[in-house]
Amino acid sequence: MYNVQELRRVLKSRGACLLAHNYQRPEVQDAADFVGDSLELSLKALESDARIVVFAGVDFMAEQAAILNPDKTVIHPEPLSVCPMAAMLTVDIVREYKEKYPGSPFVVYVNSSASVKALADYVVTSANAVKLVSQLDAEPVLFGPDRHLAEYVAEKTCKEVVPVPDFGHCPVHAVILRGDLVEAKKKYPDAKVLAHPECSSEVRKLADFVGSTSQMIKAAVELGSNEYVIATEIGMLHRLGKLGLRAYPASSYAVCVNMKMITLDSVVESLSSGKGVVKVDPKIAAKAKEAIVRSFELLGVEGPWSKS
Ligand code: 13P
Ligand code: SF4
Repeated sequence: MYNVQELRRVLKSRGACLLAHNYQRPEVQDAADFVGDSLELSLKALESDARIVVFAGVDFMAEQAAILNPDKTVIHPEPLSVCPMAAMLTVDIVREYKEKYPGSPFVVYVNSSASVKALADYVVTSANAVKLVSQLDAEPVLFGPDRHLAEYVAEKTCKEVVPVPDFGHCPVHAVILRGDLVEAKKKYPDAKVLAHPECSSEVRKLADFVGSTSQMIKAAVELGSNEYVIATEIGMLHRLGKLGLRAYPASSYAVCVNMKMITLDSVVESLSSGKGVVKVDPKIAAKAKEAIVRSFELLGVEGPWSKS
């Protein structure tokens, strides 16, 4: 069993950096060079000077890092750590909706496979979906796989947004119910409620702030309350705790078991064995990268693409 210091030593000796999502186990977050949301992690992978990037997150996050960094070795320590929501949007479903709505822009959430991204016009995260869709001229906008994020984007942009498919959802956020928040508000009357847009509209309506995981952390600092109720995965409690903020889960059942599969040992094991190197078919990667870069350009995100 490795501890945080030992893992740091292994990372240093291999010239590797460890990027961890906000939902990772506390000790994995503590060992990481950077902890953040999907958007921040994509950009950190690009900025890092390390030749090896170990990605502590679910598969699509590591895949996106590999697509954006073909010159780096991206390692996903636990291949079974996948996102069930991403699997709800298949290439066949994308093709079916494209045929049904010719000319409509297809926006996919980063929680999707590389093959699906390769068919998309734009790729967004929960941090920038509203901003990107608000800049599109055509309607309706096709958006998948999360129907709740699609609905949130429609509410915020006043545009017609078609969820693709109509059943796409995150099983972790689905366990957070309106009743949980009603109870939490009774128990912690002074607490502000922060929710992820993957929550249902019933839950979002009771929130003081809705945003990506890192936007929720920023909001907690800015709102200046002494207590927060967190309507998202419980890994966030560690990050908020480290900032000295008192936070309670809206539901203690909101655990992404896929995120929790990665451990300090699995990171060391993948570095030593060379297993878990992320490979994406080059043709699919090139098409997916086009959609990601097109989105970054529309959003004004600076990166290597800005120079050309
Ligand atoms: P963020 O991009 O907000 O970190 O969300 C990723 C995710 O998978 C939420 O369930
Ligand atoms: Fe996927 Fe939900 Fe886990 Fe996020 S919390 S990685 S959307 S299953």
